[in-house]
Amino acid sequence: MKRKPKVAVFASGSGSNFQVIVDAAHSGELHAEIVAIVTDKPLALVVERATKAGVSVVALQPKEFPSKADYEAAILTELTNLEVEWLVLAGYMRLIGNTLLSAFANRIVNIHPSLLPAFPGKDAIGQALAYGVKVTGVTVHYVDAGMDTGSIISQQAVEVVDGDLEKTEQRIHAVEHELYTKTLQQLWSRGPLDVGHEGVAKFLGPAFCDE
Ligand code: GAR
Repeated sequence: MKRKPKVAVFASGSGSNFQVIVDAAHSGELHAEIVAIVTDKPLALVVERATKAGVSVVALQPKEFPSKADYEAAILTELTNLEVEWLVLAGYMRLIGNTLLSAFANRIVNIHPSLLPAFPGKDAIGQALAYGVKVTGVTVHYVDAGMDTGSIISQQAVEVVDGDLEKTEQRIHAVEHELYTKTLQQLWSRGPLDVGHEGVAKFLGPAFCDE
């Protein structure tokens, strides 16, 4: 039996992806232990969801720290105490800085509501509708220093509901919930996916060995 990776989910909002991930971990569908959520928004709904699920909450606001490096160093202290090995971003609306990137090299993943490289950044679904595309989608990717620029792990297309933001969002979220769990499960149980990045693929091979 492979050891379960210890995971922290980063989220700033409602946390529907967090909920699906934590439920899948509890049911055994996802071979992982969700040990913490990290949020920059102490009042976000995700905090309530985490408390109900018995998951530790690390709620720190960047404005409480003199610099981004200090903010991330404080997060890193908490994550080290909890022995966290992977970071899963699920609606965390900040760029990850060097402190966390180097501590978790090739072990940070994000979900984004578009077919990257189209529509990076905030309000990706609104951007897609404003552009008038007929098909958008969901991307799961590794995190690097850029805005939604890391190596792509998985993608799924979603048809836009003509001009209807709410219905398109619902479709996207439904796909996100399925794709994220499936992708993470593959990542942690079956070794490397097609990540299009030799260094990352090499790294992932022995990432989780039997205890
Ligand atoms: C999700 O749609 C996620 O893809 C998006 O935030 C939403 C969070 O929803 N993330 C980004 O836009 C990152 N650039 P949730 O709080 O219900 O999981």
